[in-house]
Amino acid sequence: MQICRTRSGIRALRENWAGADVILAPTMGFLHDGHLSLMRRARLRAGKEGRVIATIFVNPTQFGPGEDLESYPRDEARDVALLRAEGVDAVFIPDVREIYDPHAQTIVETQELAKILIGKLRPGHFRGVATIVTKLFNIIRPLAAVFGEKDFQQLAVIRTMVRDLDMGIEIIGVPTAREADGLAMSSRNVRLSPADRAAAPILHAALAEAQALAATGITASRLRSHVRARLGSEPRAQVRSVDIRDAESLASLSGPLSRPAVILLAVSFGSVLLIDNCIVHPAKETP
Ligand code: PAF
Repeated sequence: MQICRTRSGIRALRENWAGADVILAPTMGFLHDGHLSLMRRARLRAGKEGRVIATIFVNPTQFGPGEDLESYPRDEARDVALLRAEGVDAVFIPDVREIYDPHAQTIVETQELAKILIGKLRPGHFRGVATIVTKLFNIIRPLAAVFGEKDFQQLAVIRTMVRDLDMGIEIIGVPTAREADGLAMSSRNVRLSPADRAAAPILHAALAEAQALAATGITASRLRSHVRARLGSEPRAQVRSVDIRDAESLASLSGPLSRPAVILLAVSFGSVLLIDNCIVHPAKETP
């Protein structure tokens, strides 16, 4: 596996692979099984002849003031060993100065979509994500790129940006990897205290109950209240947002479900913000 730290280095490598299908798997490192499932999906899309390029870059522009940029966990040596074992062809590990020119003037923003949900809790976050992903696309020029479905809104932002700006890159969503107790895998999970870690599977439990309730024909508002109350029963959980939205358009819902919807949770445990989501399906019409 090749390790590149400069834009010119990864570009030269990309040029050597001009005829191959290149699939990109962007990450912020501190890899877990969820990331490895991204690598496997990327390999599946690349095929034997194609190439998989991972990136490791803790992108400062997607962290707000007072967020966890400084304490974001990092372990480059371990990440590189994991990617090598997974058969990834190259990893791009730039430093901040390699990526951001201090005189940069341009940002990429999916206006309204960036302001709702997590965008409300983390103003500017999706501007940072859209800008870095665009830069990585432009540096590496992949055929396709893989992103986790755990970051549901991020995936929607990236798909929208690719559509609106005619980027012509295929975006592949990869299902959320979970621990045995249902907690969605996240690099941030290591920052949970033992007591918070023990309480955190409540997100998954609340989502699983909501899935069963949705099939009973309950309205979106009642479903939302139910999920909120369930999360509220855990004293360690600070519920930041519970939303039920149309799974395609992310439009707000309140009445009976008539199409697949997504339930999106953001819950803090101490200073650690966890997110999770699931798709729920409306009750089947009785003949
Ligand atoms: O999902 C992530 O890890 C990051 O938001 C991404 C897509 C690598 C951009 O920094």
